[in-house]
Amino acid sequence: MRENRSNRGVWGSKIGFTLAAAGSAIGLGNIWLFPTVAGQNGGAAFVLIYVGCVLLIGVPVMIAELSLGRRAQSDPVGTFKSLAPKTWWKAVGALGVFTGFMILSAYTVVAGWTVKYILITVSGQFAGANPESIGRIFTEFVGDGFAVLLYHFVFMALTVWIVIGGIEKGIEKATKILMPLLFGLLLLLVLRSVTLQGAVEGVTFYLYPDFSKVTFGVIMAALGQAFFSLSLGMGAMITYGSYLSRNDNLVSSALYVSLADTLIAFLAGFAIFPALFSVSGLSPTEGASLIFLVLPNIFNAIPLGQLFGAAFFFLLAIAALTSTISLLEVVVAYLIDQLQWQRKLAALLVGSSAFLLGIPSALSNGSVSFLSQLWKSSQETLSLMDLVFLYFGKISLAVGALLICLFVGWKWGIRSALKEIRSGYPSFALAPLWTFLVRYACPVAIAIILASYFRS
Ligand code: PHE
Repeated sequence: MRENRSNRGVWGSKIGFTLAAAGSAIGLGNIWLFPTVAGQNGGAAFVLIYVGCVLLIGVPVMIAELSLGRRAQSDPVGTFKSLAPKTWWKAVGALGVFTGFMILSAYTVVAGWTVKYILITVSGQFAGANPESIGRIFTEFVGDGFAVLLYHFVFMALTVWIVIGGIEKGIEKATKILMPLLFGLLLLLVLRSVTLQGAVEGVTFYLYPDFSKVTFGVIMAALGQAFFSLSLGMGAMITYGSYLSRNDNLVSSALYVSLADTLIAFLAGFAIFPALFSVSGLSPTEGASLIFLVLPNIFNAIPLGQLFGAAFFFLLAIAALTSTISLLEVVVAYLIDQLQWQRKLAALLVGSSAFLLGIPSALSNGSVSFLSQLWKSSQETLSLMDLVFLYFGKISLAVGALLICLFVGWKWGIRSALKEIRSGYPSFALAPLWTFLVRYACPVAIAIILASYFRS
């Protein structure tokens, strides 16, 4: 049994935790959003800026979150309560829990689409269909309220079922199977994509850094994408860190998770762009519809496309599932730790309410504008689902990350945080750099980005 002071549950192994945290991070954000956003914002130039954001802001914030969670061994609210008793800081935890709940309600809707797409692809409905009829299949599906809600429900039920299983027997066990599967499938798809005729053009598009496209807006998009993709700013990593044992190395954990997350996002681009360019006439800037409208055309045009298509949507569903698990776990942990609820009751109740809350989002999405402009400021009218993602997936995460940096840097204190980090990693040679980033660089950078959201 690993060392952890409470009986709240604990990861069975370090690899189990790393896979679960990577599973939280790797999601629709990597496979769907990342290639789309990179495609719209200068390809490799965006990728470089993104990597910079991950290393200089994402990793330090993740270390901060993990150290908070492990120190307090509590949910986000309990963490701030115990490290700064009788202050308003617990509101930061509450904001995180609320944000997780809101994101969950909309995220499972899209995750549900991926399940539907596995079935459509397997049933051969796409086979031989032209772009127009593929478009029609999509519009008809998202316009069919009953079907969308059914898949939304199925996905939420699956998430609840795993979370009820608890930390080691539910989340850890599921992610240990799902993550390697995801990685294997993605590699297979990349291989398929880059060996298609004309794939070079796609690779060039993806890897050619067009710095002329880099504006302040692009940097903003990269940072927003980094928070969302790394599951930062709402206490997901506080919660997952709370099930860690004292002798785990938080710094290497944060690095592994960020590396895996970034690698999968980067690879997703290789699965998509070469295939996209190999099927002529499709544009890399198709936005969110890239996956749901464009990819079926690609799978149609390549040998064994039906199989690869089904594999792709299966992959997307797995990635989404390990993320929805963590979103639900944040809220469930709060109810267990703060209100002494039973895990099962908490998971069922939160799952059902998030399902209900997601209904208007699910039904608001007859239009395909969805998320295409997510990380940019947009003049387009946004659907309810867009708004949920914008306010909670983007703004609230950035606010949360900023407050977490300020808390660790100035309130709870760098010394306490370093003590916690050093309990599993005594040497921590980069402590001065981390201190500088958490105290000064990250808060300033995030504040500038936030100010610009509100200005635009
Ligand atoms: N990181 C997940 C993704 O990329 C989304 C997520 C955000 C999950 C915040 C948990 C917390 O899809």
